Amino acid sequence: MSSLREGPTTVVRREDYTAPAYWIDTVELSFDLDPAKTRVLNKMRLRRNADVPAQALRLDGEDLNLARVLVNGAGCSFRMDGNQLVLESLPEGSEPFELEIFTTCAPEKNTQLMGLYVSQGTFFTQCEAEGFRRITYFLDRPDVMASYTVTLRADKKKYPVLLSNGNLVEEGELADGRHFAKWVDPHKKPCYLFALVAGELVAREQRIVSRSGTEHLLQVFVRPGDMDKTEHAMNSLIASVAWDEARFGLPLDLERFMIVATSDFNMGAMENKGLNIFNTKYVLANSATATDTDFANIESVVGHEYFHNWTGNRVTCRDWFQLSLKEGLTVFRDQEFSMDLCAEPSARAVKRIEDVRVLRTAQFPEDAGPMAHPVRPDSYVEINNFYTVTVYEKGAEVVRMMQTLVGREGFAAGMKQYFARHDGQAVTCDDFAQSMADANPASDLARLLPQFKRWYSQAGTPRLKAQGVYDSSTRSYALTLTQSCAPTPGQSVKEPFVIPVAIGLLDAQGGELPLQLAHWNQPEAGTRSFVLTQESETLTFVNLDAEPVPSILRGFSAPVVLDFDYSDAHLLTLLAHDVDPFNRWEAGQRLALRLALKAIQSEGALPAEPLDMAFIEAMRAVLRHPALDAAFKELVLTLPSETYISEQLDVVDPQRVHAVREAMREQLAQALHDDWVWAFEAHRDNGAYRPDPLSTGRRALTGMALTMLCLAARASGSPVWPGKTLQRFKDAGNMTDRFNALSALVVSGHPLASDALARFHQLFRNEALVLDKWFALQAGAPDRGGDVLPAVRRLMSHADFNLKNPNRARSVIFSYCSANPGAFHRADAAGYQFWSDCVIELDAFNPQVAARLARALDRWKKLAEPYRATAREAIARVAARTQLSNDVREVVTRSLA
Ligand code: ARG
Ligand code: ZN
Repeated sequence: MSSLREGPTTVVRREDYTAPAYWIDTVELSFDLDPAKTRVLNKMRLRRNADVPAQALRLDGEDLNLARVLVNGAGCSFRMDGNQLVLESLPEGSEPFELEIFTTCAPEKNTQLMGLYVSQGTFFTQCEAEGFRRITYFLDRPDVMASYTVTLRADKKKYPVLLSNGNLVEEGELADGRHFAKWVDPHKKPCYLFALVAGELVAREQRIVSRSGTEHLLQVFVRPGDMDKTEHAMNSLIASVAWDEARFGLPLDLERFMIVATSDFNMGAMENKGLNIFNTKYVLANSATATDTDFANIESVVGHEYFHNWTGNRVTCRDWFQLSLKEGLTVFRDQEFSMDLCAEPSARAVKRIEDVRVLRTAQFPEDAGPMAHPVRPDSYVEINNFYTVTVYEKGAEVVRMMQTLVGREGFAAGMKQYFARHDGQAVTCDDFAQSMADANPASDLARLLPQFKRWYSQAGTPRLKAQGVYDSSTRSYALTLTQSCAPTPGQSVKEPFVIPVAIGLLDAQGGELPLQLAHWNQPEAGTRSFVLTQESETLTFVNLDAEPVPSILRGFSAPVVLDFDYSDAHLLTLLAHDVDPFNRWEAGQRLALRLALKAIQSEGALPAEPLDMAFIEAMRAVLRHPALDAAFKELVLTLPSETYISEQLDVVDPQRVHAVREAMREQLAQALHDDWVWAFEAHRDNGAYRPDPLSTGRRALTGMALTMLCLAARASGSPVWPGKTLQRFKDAGNMTDRFNALSALVVSGHPLASDALARFHQLFRNEALVLDKWFALQAGAPDRGGDVLPAVRRLMSHADFNLKNPNRARSVIFSYCSANPGAFHRADAAGYQFWSDCVIELDAFNPQVAARLARALDRWKKLAEPYRATAREAIARVAARTQLSNDVREVVTRSLA
């Protein structure tokens, strides 16, 4: 396999960027599609870039068979340099010339799912970041933008639908039962946005008229038989088009916009111009097969890919170091989209909490581990390894801070400026920040721009330490904010960041206090935003009759760790009263975390009941609260994850963390038993299924109640609630309720679980995405005496398991290695051995998926013995292989460094 290499790998550095030596103005591609041997004719018009010294043309290629090269219609000399096709003697001067390259490739043998591949008999492409070179020789870099004309030829029976970017200009019959379609993309694009699809597909179609009166055709293509699962994706697409026009004045610039779903896909989805290709997981949904979470994910991924049409496609990245230019911005946009679709403010807050939870459980560990990198990385070996939570989610937080600094309207003005300047260009993160600042010349962002941009250049999560001192003689409260940031690989010293800190003050009864700084004349009620720029600054609030309870970093106004020595009483006040929903939730998390850490760090045997009465009563009050939303209650009642708890410790004993969190959960289950009964009864009936935030929240809380009641039954031995849960599992009118009931039985380890699992499999054996859930639930189940790893091995020899299908592989292997720490970290090291076997096996045919899995042991240095030593051995075992992809090599090398 050519992707597996031996020997040294090359590091690509941001500072080495140079403009391309040639431009490609037009590309005419013709495909004769055949799974075994596809013929690709690539006719390009190129010209030298007059701004750089004359040099040879070096075209990227990978796994291609080269048949012919013609320059201006005549044969020419060329040579190979590694994977590059080098042409030295090209016409001189700046006149355009024609280059014709004829190659073949074997899509059915393409197991890495990059370039042109076959999934269930249908051709698909994936070109970002560097997959186009697996289709033809090309300048495979995002700053080379060309106009594409694409002709597809294929057997008409097997491949009735032929799609590519842009507009269909011609189609017709050919000899031997073949047919063709010709597509012209009216927009120039980098090659990573190229796509083709050919196969037997059906489409849900919708014609829409935009605000400005133009007509568009929206299409969602799926396999025949999946049509009944396309309504939600289509609705999400319609909503996306309307939102981008309403909020940012950005219209759809194509007559036709297509989404196609494939079940074999390395990631979520891809924003190819006018022809988005999606993992089926983010398209297919109906109430019988998809959960509320699936519905919400589909909405946000459909939005995300659609929003890329402007932020990514119209304005793209100069080089891959700028990836967050499009990804951070587009994640920010999809987050805002989902929030704006919420009718109730409380639902917006729930979305914000969920987004922050992802950031803190996945990105903070990345920022503290061996793969830590700035939002705009400085170097990489394999760019695919940098499609990370840092580039995406932290990148989105950086954009969000810009919005905080310039205001919502100022942000819209900055976007306008950005497109006015850069439409049709390939640009940098600096260009975006500059547009934002220039559109808001009087803003803090403009004033602090060079310092603000440290968010792009410095890795690591800043810590914000806050200390408050109340002085009764002056009736003042001095709040000192101090920032620091630990070293990360390659960056030993960090300069101070610009940190927007939203603050409110509460009195002891939880009422909002007016905020008045010493030099202000007028007090202001509610939240005030301060901008910390120094290493340390003190804010002195005056006119306070008593020590206030500070509510700091409201709405999670910056991606930092906040250290403040809250008393339990303070936290209970915030949990009961803070008007900021984020900090209200956060107060509960802090209380739970505190109790967890205390139990984990206690000497000797684990306390059976880690929770105290104050905490339990506070949780009861939230659960029974007459005014709070069910969705918010479910978030508050969810204990911090094992991963999040572990991040707070210097040395982690994963078994102890697991045992403590389980004990806390069981205590909450038992102590609030009657409240869980009430919660279940009060929220169980939701009428006809609708995936809106309110009913989603009710189902989430009902599901949680069932899990708690089954856990409590485990202790009491009572058959009542497990029986009711099984009944609910059988009667459920939608997948959310059905799966939650199944999950309650599995999580509580009840004997009824195995019957229910068998029944579930029987019911959904033809629904691949539902089977993924079935696999994932078992691989992610709480470990009881080491029983999960053997179960995982059995699942992998199940007839429905298929390692080659990324969704299925993830549902078992990732659910176990990355999402089930209590089961994965075994004293006998069998989990690690399993991990290294899987990484190696996957790497042989799909390096991208393998490299993701390789990251499961990122935090090995934090582990207590014997885990630390055996984890290291497992990583070293992978690293010792001579045949490894660049992808996995980079991850394990950095991990051991
Ligand atoms: N641009 C795509 C998205 O964010 C993801 C592409 C991921 N590509 C990769 N090689 N990992 O929607
Ligand atoms: Zn994206």
